[in-house]
Amino acid sequence: MKRDLLSVWDLSAKEIDWLIKRAIKLKSGIANKHAPLSGKSIGLFFEKPSTRTKVSFEVGIYQLGGQPIYLNPKEMQLDRGESIIDTVNVLSRYLSGLVIRTYLHFATMVFSLHASIPIINGLSDLHHPCQALADLMTIQEKKDRLKGIRLAYIGDSNNVTNSLIEAAARTGMDMTIACPEGCEPEPDLLNRTRDEAKGEIVVIRSPEEAITEADVIYTDAWVSMGQEKGSKKKKGRLRDYQINSALLRRAKKDVLVLHCLPAHRGEEITDDVMDGPNSAVFDQAENRLHTTKALLEFLIK
Ligand code: CP
Ligand code: NVA
Repeated sequence: MKRDLLSVWDLSAKEIDWLIKRAIKLKSGIANKHAPLSGKSIGLFFEKPSTRTKVSFEVGIYQLGGQPIYLNPKEMQLDRGESIIDTVNVLSRYLSGLVIRTYLHFATMVFSLHASIPIINGLSDLHHPCQALADLMTIQEKKDRLKGIRLAYIGDSNNVTNSLIEAAARTGMDMTIACPEGCEPEPDLLNRTRDEAKGEIVVIRSPEEAITEADVIYTDAWVSMGQEKGSKKKKGRLRDYQINSALLRRAKKDVLVLHCLPAHRGEEITDDVMDGPNSAVFDQAENRLHTTKALLEFLIK
């Protein structure tokens, strides 16, 4: 039976552990002489801009011996009214897998339901599971463990936050989300993950409190793609949630700073922190490639 990755929740704790170990091995170069995607084509259907996801998938597919095909919805018959269901039906007969970056998470579910090939969510309004895998790998690399790690997420709760919450619950990290009113994660997602979480997942207001005991500090854009309406007001509410050197001084000396990128320097994070000694944001971005390759090996048969 085909497997999809729509959210981190689609993976068991054991599978996440395998993917991270495999990605670390692939990064070391030990396991690179094989071509599991030889003769296979993978579609990349992107309705939103992307640098890391698009390029890491294209390069990863190529390195595994396969062929990536970038599909711009604006250049497809979809744009002239062909239905998603017919499109997915046809694509399933050519491709061995399909990565989608879209607006409504519901669309990834429609693709999943009607496709006979694995569907990988390359970002929706609710989830960004491929990012979370690279984040976990980076934490494992830098801190040598996941279980018991204290992750502080500061800022707007979004797709990246949701995937990190699921990742924390599955791997035994503790997670504190510090955000202003109106920027909290979905209560349903919180309740569902808390039921299974081995660590604690809490939402508080104070970024200072959140980072005090943190091993990892994470932030993301204050305004996500497709959510530009009302952004001026929202940015005002998030003003006190910037990751800057004053905040970092209150954290542990060896705290790791992560950001999924693209960063809005001077908004959610300052230059000195992003380019400073605690930051691993570019290693994190590199790890998108290694985790993507591990994921492709795992899902594409
Ligand atoms: N982090 C991430 O998904 O980046 P892109 O939007 O560039 O793909
Ligand atoms: N939360 C951001 C992530 C970008 C990679 C967005 O959805 O725009």
